[in-house]
Amino acid sequence: MINKNFKKLSENYLFQELALKRNELIKQGKDVIALAIGDPDLETPMPIREAMAKEILEVYHKYPESEGMLELRQALSQYYKKRFKVNMPADNIFISFGAKTDLFDVVRVFSNTEDVIAVQDPAYPVYENSILFEGRNIKYLPCIEENNFLPDLNLLDKNIALAYLCYPNNPTGATAPKSYLAELIKKLKQINALLIYDIAYADFGPRMAPSIFSIPGAKDIALEFGSFSKPYSMTGYRLSWFAAKNPEIVKYWQKFRNNRDSGCSNYIQKAGITALTSPEVEKIVRKNMAEYSERAKLLKTGFEKLTMQVFGLEHTPYAWVSIPKGYTSKSFAEKLLNEAYVIVTPGSGFGPSGEGYVRATIFQPKAKIEEALERIGRLKL
Ligand code: MLT
Repeated sequence: MINKNFKKLSENYLFQELALKRNELIKQGKDVIALAIGDPDLETPMPIREAMAKEILEVYHKYPESEGMLELRQALSQYYKKRFKVNMPADNIFISFGAKTDLFDVVRVFSNTEDVIAVQDPAYPVYENSILFEGRNIKYLPCIEENNFLPDLNLLDKNIALAYLCYPNNPTGATAPKSYLAELIKKLKQINALLIYDIAYADFGPRMAPSIFSIPGAKDIALEFGSFSKPYSMTGYRLSWFAAKNPEIVKYWQKFRNNRDSGCSNYIQKAGITALTSPEVEKIVRKNMAEYSERAKLLKTGFEKLTMQVFGLEHTPYAWVSIPKGYTSKSFAEKLLNEAYVIVTPGSGFGPSGEGYVRATIFQPKAKIEEALERIGRLKL
């Protein structure tokens, strides 16, 4: 009766499991500091909220269009031009309900049962869960310190139909140089595979990461997924986009969306238009990024003082922290949880190569981050 592939997924989704633990400790009256899920604590800029409120109060909302409002797709087209110097026509952009949904769906649209799908290891757990749920075969691409958290391209062979990559990377915080991305595209074209490229963090921090469409040849094989969640503190809105240049990919994504859903609510899309076009929002986001950058420095120096090595943080809201000897990433995270009431994400939750690390976010005020580090210090690890 139930899809048998459910058995392949862990009992609870990674961040749900951590939320359950957090809630349990809060119920016991503990003062918990959660550095687990990437959910911005600095609030959604007011002009974005006002735009949505105005729209919902003044306009009767019927079914939206499944590809999204033209006005938002045009604003994103302008964004591609300004931000990446990439020509991305509005017709090649589709609006969606958060990148998580699209990144889960993409496997069933662009692969078949016998296919092998490559996934970075460690990676955002949704990629692996989708591959398992759709009953495809999985190939891990280890991303470790020795390869600067960039997969070895020799692992990509002709059995692979799709490859998931994310830069700036969740969870390691690594970035990919354009020269590496050019080699990646070359290799994927040789083996006839498509690239699923996640840029959810491209606008976090200094905004230097490229769109995959800045890379020659990507137009034929790439599908890019972007999100409003992190730079605009819009995780609760569920708003994201998909962009592709290959006409076949565009055609089948449109067909899938027409059949699968009835589009993203227009009042949420209005909020997205304001996020992209309001100078006031731009000012607020710049201020938020400056605050995040101070927190990142605090977290990095704090962990380093405790003699732990820290990667990431500059281009993503995550510290990828190597753990002391004698622990697994899970046992270390549990120690912090049970003895310091600090919640971090065990690296192994992102894949086998995440063992030896935990991930900590900067989405807590500076005083809380300092307090968390002090509590961890008191454990005398
Ligand atoms: C994360 O913490 O990795 C992400 O924010 C979770 C998500 O986007 O679903």
